[in-house]
Amino acid sequence: MAEPVPNTFLREGRIYTVNLGKGSVYGEKVLRRRSMEYREWSPARSKLAEYLASGGRFPLRAGNDLLYLGAGSGTTASHISDILADGSVPCVESAPIPFFRLREVASSRSNMSAILSDARHPERYAPMVGSADVIYQDIAQKDQVDIFVRNMELFNAEWGVIMLKVRSISHLPPSEVVPGELRKLEAYSVNETDVSRRHPDHRAYLVRR
Ligand SMILES: C[S@@+](CC[C@H](N)C(=O)[O-])C[C@H]1O[C@@H](n2cnc3c(N)ncnc32)[C@H](O)[C@@H]1O
Repeated sequence: MAEPVPNTFLREGRIYTVNLGKGSVYGEKVLRRRSMEYREWSPARSKLAEYLASGGRFPLRAGNDLLYLGAGSGTTASHISDILADGSVPCVESAPIPFFRLREVASSRSNMSAILSDARHPERYAPMVGSADVIYQDIAQKDQVDIFVRNMELFNAEWGVIMLKVRSISHLPPSEVVPGELRKLEAYSVNETDVSRRHPDHRAYLVRR
């Protein structure tokens, strides 16, 4: 990891987060030491775990609120909930099937909430989110960068991480697609971390004001 991430540890090459809830969330291994539980966070399963394992920065401050766009059934979101502990993690998901599981996961965690909505319309869920210092997005849609920018601007977020799935935008070679997408982020400072070893279809960008 490039810098310490709260409640996150590397041990013998594996990443763990301190469990804010109890037991396993999605079948991941749980280590118990004294009264603490540590949940294994697999870089093969989670692009954000691979991002951190590959040296990506995640410069959270205590009490930050993080808005998660495209939370699926809550696998990665549950680890962000562990990391943030004192901050809130509202999770937006548009598909009803993963949302059911996401809602169950959120109900067992004090700082996580599940919102069934389309991330293209942040004004619809803004009243449920309140503030968002940070945005994490993992949405495979043609307009994924537009969605990210719309949310960054509406919530006036300080920074965010977007997992860009290039093939969802176009089947042209990435070298022809990515420059145009990055131009949409020109107002920000952008740093790429290579996550292609385990997630070859994705590019990961830290985006800051
Ligand atoms: C790759 S999966 C998420 C996996 C999850 N981020 C994880 O690491 O555990 C992407 C999710 O984005 C959701 N999605 C796609 N378009 C969306 C939209 N416009 N608004 C909200 N969610 C969307 C999909 O339904 C899907 O569950």
